[in-house]
Amino acid sequence: MCGIVAAVADSNIVPLLIEGLTRLEYRGYDSAGLALRDDASGGALSRFRSIGRVADLAEQAKNQSATSGIAHTRWATHGIPSERNAHPHMSDGIAVVHNGIIENYVALREMLLAQGYVFSSDTDTEVIVHLIVHLAKTAPDLFTAVAQTCKQLEGIYAIAVIRAADNCVIVSRHGAPLLLGLGDHGNYAASDASALLSVTRKIVYLEEGDVAEISLHGIRLVGAEGALLKIGVDRPIHISTLSAAEVEKGDYAHFMQKEIFEQPEVLAATLEMIGGAQSLSPNIFGATAPDIFADVNSVLILACGTSFHSGLVARYWIEQLAGIPCTVEIASEYRYRVSVPNPRQLVVAISQSGETADTLASIKFAKSLGMEKTLALCNAPESAIVRECALRFLTRAGKEIGVASTKAFTTQLAALFLLAITLGKIGRRISAKDEAEYLNDLRHLPLAVQKVLTLEPAIKIWAQRFADKHHALFLGRGLHYPIALEGALKLKEISYIHAEGYPAGELKHGPLALVDEDMPVISIAPNDALLSKLKSNLEEVASRSGELYVFADADSAITESARVHVLRLPEHYGLLSPVLHVVALQLLSYHIALVKGTDIDKPRNLAKSVTVE
Ligand code: AGP
Repeated sequence: MCGIVAAVADSNIVPLLIEGLTRLEYRGYDSAGLALRDDASGGALSRFRSIGRVADLAEQAKNQSATSGIAHTRWATHGIPSERNAHPHMSDGIAVVHNGIIENYVALREMLLAQGYVFSSDTDTEVIVHLIVHLAKTAPDLFTAVAQTCKQLEGIYAIAVIRAADNCVIVSRHGAPLLLGLGDHGNYAASDASALLSVTRKIVYLEEGDVAEISLHGIRLVGAEGALLKIGVDRPIHISTLSAAEVEKGDYAHFMQKEIFEQPEVLAATLEMIGGAQSLSPNIFGATAPDIFADVNSVLILACGTSFHSGLVARYWIEQLAGIPCTVEIASEYRYRVSVPNPRQLVVAISQSGETADTLASIKFAKSLGMEKTLALCNAPESAIVRECALRFLTRAGKEIGVASTKAFTTQLAALFLLAITLGKIGRRISAKDEAEYLNDLRHLPLAVQKVLTLEPAIKIWAQRFADKHHALFLGRGLHYPIALEGALKLKEISYIHAEGYPAGELKHGPLALVDEDMPVISIAPNDALLSKLKSNLEEVASRSGELYVFADADSAITESARVHVLRLPEHYGLLSPVLHVVALQLLSYHIALVKGTDIDKPRNLAKSVTVE
């Protein structure tokens, strides 16, 4: 979703703003822009905007020089992607960039129109800049005008503001992420640390309602209640461990491909804490986990998209290993429905980014219903979702840049398996022997995934056959039904082929009507208790001239024929089999998208971090 970079430094900041925006491209955007304050002219603002890529904006601004400025990538919410709707928005010598949605913008717009302000875009954001101008007429300084403006905004925002007359940038956030960067030659703000890697690793995460004035020599920071805060005391300084290699493609053609191949490594990192242990401690979820888990009688998982799918797999594991009910809900639905709260339920929020607005709101909603036993399962340590929950487990997938989630998903699965074992142990459903065996299986998982990656050449050949397809069906059963959903999501996200995931037994209740010679049916067929049932479902497809692409285990006993193609995964992996099968489906989607020539890492209309509703 939108990205912000802002800087005040002792030398030209234009290259940094452009580099920062380039680093934020992965978040998804449709236009970009920047506003620069020209010291030479005594502070005039110049603005550049482009509906193309950041590279086009860089071309426009290549001869510019400034020591302060704000920059933005926009993902349209209000108003089509166009130059007039691109940020920064300007009014009377002030420029604003904004990430989020202002829910009361209609009322504010009417008030400002009545005051004579002229609007030149269709965005919700433009009210912010006019309101700042309006309030600055009576406020002692820009900082106060911005703080007063924020008090009137309803909704979600991270903003950066610059004024021709001041050599500083004012920033604030509520609901959307924004952090400060402390450098040796300047001070900065950005949506995430990757944008500032070339100038600093010293990061301060802003809290809800914080307002900061960034200048060359320091940062003035005021909290939501108006108190002056000390950086390093009230807001800790974190040293970002993000490496340049994490945000670069290296020898891979796309971030998605790199991230698929990083899975053995990041699974090992996520599971590092189990070392050679034969037994798990609940403390891996937080110091208070033993007390919280001891009283838990069920689990509610809240998540969106791919993270929702990992929750669906976890439901099978938790009910089987821990013997307690587990429900999984799409966060954007749960937050608005009337449900029956259960204070003894463990509420688990799963999120790669930790900033997904719906997931964050759903966890707040659960808490408002009296459900305080909350656990964040997240890939971003200081994210809003982590801070909102009583317990946390941090996956160690590293930065995921490709919009289509891959390594974040498999590390979530590893973490959720640890949760299922832990709950099973607390509920005395798992013997010490079984626990030790599950931990051994987890330890072997990176190697097992590595073996699946060797299927890439064969998957590439399959991918060629999908180039002219418009639809695809993914089938799975049991634990692998959510993997069918995830396979379908991956394919539609990056190849734009319409795909549906179904539990194979459901086929005859409707979707079978879609099957013909043009409909590839991708099936996940591990050698488990449901294999014989699945085979009957595959027969139903074959007898309607459907073309089957089957990911089987070595011993699945599925016979190949002209219209039944079979790829065998190197080993059968029991309860952890979904982790292996999804890797094969990720590779399939990737190579189909490659054949189709789509923008794999930045698929149309999508954003990496969905910070609006
Ligand atoms: C997956 O490929 C997605 N792009 C998307 O579904 C994503 O998983 C979803 O938006 C949730 O994001 P989160 O894990 O950061 O909360």
